[in-house]
Amino acid sequence: ITRQFSCSSAVQSAIKNVTVIGGGLMGSGIAQVAAQAGQNVTLVDVNGDILAKAQKSIGNNLGRVAKKMYKDNPQEGEKFVSEAMGRIKTATDPVSGSQTADLVVEAIVENIDIKHQLFQKLDQVAPDHTIFASNTSSLSVNEIGAVVKRKDKFGGLHFFNPVPVMRLLEVVRGAETSETTYRSMMDWGKALGKTCITCKDTPGFVVNRLLVPYIAEAIRLFERGDASAKDIDIAMKLGAGYPMGPLELADYVGLDTNKFILDGWHKKYPDQQLFKPIPLLNKLVSEGKLGVKTGEGFYKYE
Ligand code: CAA
Ligand code: NAD
Repeated sequence: ITRQFSCSSAVQSAIKNVTVIGGGLMGSGIAQVAAQAGQNVTLVDVNGDILAKAQKSIGNNLGRVAKKMYKDNPQEGEKFVSEAMGRIKTATDPVSGSQTADLVVEAIVENIDIKHQLFQKLDQVAPDHTIFASNTSSLSVNEIGAVVKRKDKFGGLHFFNPVPVMRLLEVVRGAETSETTYRSMMDWGKALGKTCITCKDTPGFVVNRLLVPYIAEAIRLFERGDASAKDIDIAMKLGAGYPMGPLELADYVGLDTNKFILDGWHKKYPDQQLFKPIPLLNKLVSEGKLGVKTGEGFYKYE
């Protein structure tokens, strides 16, 4: 076996200026970890209120990190937080935010048409050397990148929720991603302190290709009445060592997101049994029970 170009400890990245587009759950986390690693970050969202919310949550999460890193030196901790926050600029216009970027990471809604519109615009304004990456969970990186001219500088950088805590980064090589782009993405991931794995552009890459059918099977098990939600979750935590059970995790990721991913794959691969629609999941989503974010899914939340 030839050794893959793999991630290890602290590494210098040629990427210094990063623009993150989408300031929601994932984008705010990606902006935080990049700023924490000393990068200049521009966080872009069409919605100014979301940007204000993102800055607040980044501040809180950096505080959590500082508390651990500087246990005995709160003053240093405060400095760490204010320096990292100082590296994050915000903007509502993706054009202004991308003119000086070495890397643009897209973390906007999971909709191919909206992603296409964004990348078409970015391709015209970003410098020639700028690498574009999508944080998509379930769409094809090649299909998203089909609208840009710089196909050699396009790839996938798939982070996990919560971004500051989850240590993995999936680096997705599209059909035309160049070796130089791939290596730059790997180096950038390492500089952020993530462990990177490499993967081809296949549905769900590695983690979601395994996790989404696993969650789907757990919902089907519950739907059939084979075990209670609580017992299914206890089983997988204590019997298989997962930090959360599958139904808890479904609520955490969002039942709408789970349904959206399954529906998209089912349309594309109608013969794959694992991707078939699940009546109970569809019912919960239609009732607005989307999990933690709406206060109810398989469980109720305060
Ligand atoms: N930001 C920063 N730090 C956070 C955080 C956040 N949002 N959430 C938790 N933390 C930190 C806490 O400060 C705590 O740190 P210490 O232990 O060092 O003090 C640590 O993480 C653990 O947190 P908690 O004690 O609050 O809770 P926990 O032990 O139950 O862990 C969890 C929470 C990390 C979310 C854990 O339950 C877990 O790993 N769950 C599985 C998550 C998972 O599978 N994510 C992937 C989803 S799939 C995906 O993202 C891909 C996709 O495309 C949909
Ligand atoms: P989110 O809804 O929390 O955030 C998306 C943000 O994008 C919103 O704030 C919205 O205002 C903004 N936005 C929409 N269109 C925009 C545009 N044209 N320009 C700028 N901003 C725009 O969503 P999220 O959960 O952070 O997911 C973002 C991406 O990350 C999706 O592709 C998703 O599949 C992927 N992802 C999600 C998770 C997860 O667990 N939620 C995990 C990994 C990857």
